[in-house]
Amino acid sequence: MMLNGKVAVIYGAAGAIGGAVARAFAREGAMVYLTGRKKGPVDAVAKDVVDAGGTGEGAEVDALDEQAVDAHLRSVIDDAGRVDISFNAVGIPNGRILGVPLLELDVERFALPIMAYATSYFLTARLAARHMIAKKSGVIMTVTALHSRTGIPLVGGYGPAMAAKEALTRDLSAELAPAGIRVVGLRPQGMPETRTIKEAFEPRAKASGLTWDQWQDLLASRTHPRRLMSLPELADMAVFIASDRASGMTGTTVNLTMGSLDD
Ligand SMILES: NC(=O)c1ccc[n+]([C@@H]2O[C@H](COP(=O)([O-])OP(=O)(O)OC[C@H]3O[C@@H](n4cnc5c(N)ncnc54)[C@H](OP(=O)(O)O)[C@@H]3O)[C@@H](O)[C@H]2O)c1
Repeated sequence: MMLNGKVAVIYGAAGAIGGAVARAFAREGAMVYLTGRKKGPVDAVAKDVVDAGGTGEGAEVDALDEQAVDAHLRSVIDDAGRVDISFNAVGIPNGRILGVPLLELDVERFALPIMAYATSYFLTARLAARHMIAKKSGVIMTVTALHSRTGIPLVGGYGPAMAAKEALTRDLSAELAPAGIRVVGLRPQGMPETRTIKEAFEPRAKASGLTWDQWQDLLASRTHPRRLMSLPELADMAVFIASDRASGMTGTTVNLTMGSLDD
């Protein structure tokens, strides 16, 4: 098992990516601490983890609340003695940020994703690193999207938010890697089995007249294998990057767009 004995904390663990990563980390032997804004959905994923023979515990933690993140991490340290992996998979509902042309977008709606994504990643990374530094080891991870690197209409502040997270990944690594802490992001293409991608489609349906199937085909046609990545494939990549096998990688965001976006 690639993560045997590792202690992982996941933010946004009730979401599509957070849940898939939690399950995959536990399958590979990690003790997984799952967190999210609402305890019920997080506990449901934790139950899946335990039912599958893994170790998982759910907690209500708002990943924008510094005190809540800090208190939870302290409870993890009390319980497990350390934290090895911090994975921020928080996602703001697309309905709140997409669909309005930049010309008509108000400042609040533009700034929401930039503030929320960058701040949550900063907080969870900084607080985890303060514990990891004592052991001179750890991995900090997050998820972005190809909007960080290419122009896409009707996405408001989402592209700048993803670019900010990728910049923060580099800067965190520049400061933390000398202390043994790796910082790596994952940049997948859209995974159509997630609510996020269905919601991202809605404004495009209105603007382009494409059906859901046609839109998926269009996204897939831009990849080299002519298909979109699945959640289990993304989770397997997350396992590898979080493992000691990826000890040579830090300060970067892994391009998982399967050819949709050139490096
Ligand atoms: N899905 C994809 O195909 C895809 C592709 C590329 C990039 N991404 C990016 O990856 C991230 C996760 O995507 P996803 O599809 O897994 O989204 P998701 O299913 O909507 O999950 C996001 C989770 O984050 C939680 N959350 C939001 N704000 C939070 C906060 N302040 N504290 C704690 N938890 C919070 C949400 O809880 P609530 O339900 O309570 O709001 C939800 O459980 C997003 O940034 C997304 O843009 C996704």
